[in-house]
Amino acid sequence: MYLASASRYRDMEYRRCGRSGIKLPALSLGLWHNFGHVDVLDTGRGLIRQAFDAGITHFDLANNYGPPPGSAEENFGRILRQDLAQHRDELMISSKAGYTMWDGPYGDWGSKKYLVSSLDQSLKRMGLDYVDIFYHHRPDPDTPLEETMSALHLLVQQGKALYVGLSNYRPEEARKAFAILKELGTPCLIHQPKYSMFERWVEDGLLDLLQDEGVGCIPFSPLAQGLLTNKYLKDIPADSRAAKEHGFLKVDDITAEVREKLVKLNDIAKERGQSLAQMALAWLLKDGRVTSVLIGASRAEQLKDSLGCLENTIFSLSELEAIHDILG
Ligand SMILES: NC(=O)c1ccc[n+]([C@@H]2O[C@H](COP(=O)([O-])OP(=O)(O)OC[C@H]3O[C@@H](n4cnc5c(N)ncnc54)[C@H](OP(=O)(O)O)[C@@H]3O)[C@@H](O)[C@H]2O)c1
Repeated sequence: MYLASASRYRDMEYRRCGRSGIKLPALSLGLWHNFGHVDVLDTGRGLIRQAFDAGITHFDLANNYGPPPGSAEENFGRILRQDLAQHRDELMISSKAGYTMWDGPYGDWGSKKYLVSSLDQSLKRMGLDYVDIFYHHRPDPDTPLEETMSALHLLVQQGKALYVGLSNYRPEEARKAFAILKELGTPCLIHQPKYSMFERWVEDGLLDLLQDEGVGCIPFSPLAQGLLTNKYLKDIPADSRAAKEHGFLKVDDITAEVREKLVKLNDIAKERGQSLAQMALAWLLKDGRVTSVLIGASRAEQLKDSLGCLENTIFSLSELEAIHDILG
């Protein structure tokens, strides 16, 4: 039987999510990879326990996480029932809809039909009455924004989600969506963009917008799917995401130019007394506009390593300049 650590809230930092009542842990755990039916359930179960014991209260899912799609929610539901049922009120659980989930015209994008039925399916898979955050996963160029935002608002009114979020929305479309949600009476809690040392588009307007609007920010793929760690410095380990057939990181992404940057960044990390992963996470957390950093992990040692980033999230000006020069 699992007994949660009594000291689980001792070392984690909790940051306020925009101008809401919610605080999120500085690190949250995502279940995009490593929790599907293709993965070993006990490894995932161990990671969830380890995360919760370290004060990670936020677990991020989506309808399509697996593979196969839906299986991460099924597995998470199983783990919740087995280990965390009595801790439900200590958890922030999110899900999303927006990418292809089922065949036909109603299993994708941003219609009310898709969002409402998808969340019903997610709740069944996880065995939950409600999710804490429900996201529209990506903007839909063809569905009126009013319809998608009204669907999010409806789900909150129905008690199936407590808060709503947007993911992958660029500043201009996010601004419009925030205004509609505010008007409806369901302000957007949080935005989930891709943001790492290697992907910095959010610095060009989105972070400022989120601060002005009082919306939280939870960057995903903060390690660029594992690139910003020491594992690809020399070769491509057989058990890494890049080597896996179903992984979204491709061998071709690891170019000589990328490796050269990684080696230089790794030298700075060493000088700071951190692993490269720790420095990459700390580099995001140095910005007060970032509420929580949404990490993934395939094994316990990685989660332990990543949690170590919290010991030093301060950068000197010369470190920041050196990193900036490397990133280009
Ligand atoms: N909203 C969206 O559109 C969207 C899209 C993508 C992701 N997300 C969310 O963001 C979460 C995180 O994304 P991500 O998995 O790409 O994040 P990430 O933290 O950039 O990459 C995680 C992967 O890096 C490796 N890793 C992690 N920590 C390590 C460490 N300390 N040392 C060495 N290797 C380490 C592991 O890969 P190996 O398999 O190589 O061990 C792990 O699975 C997802 O689970 C999901 O919740 C959202």
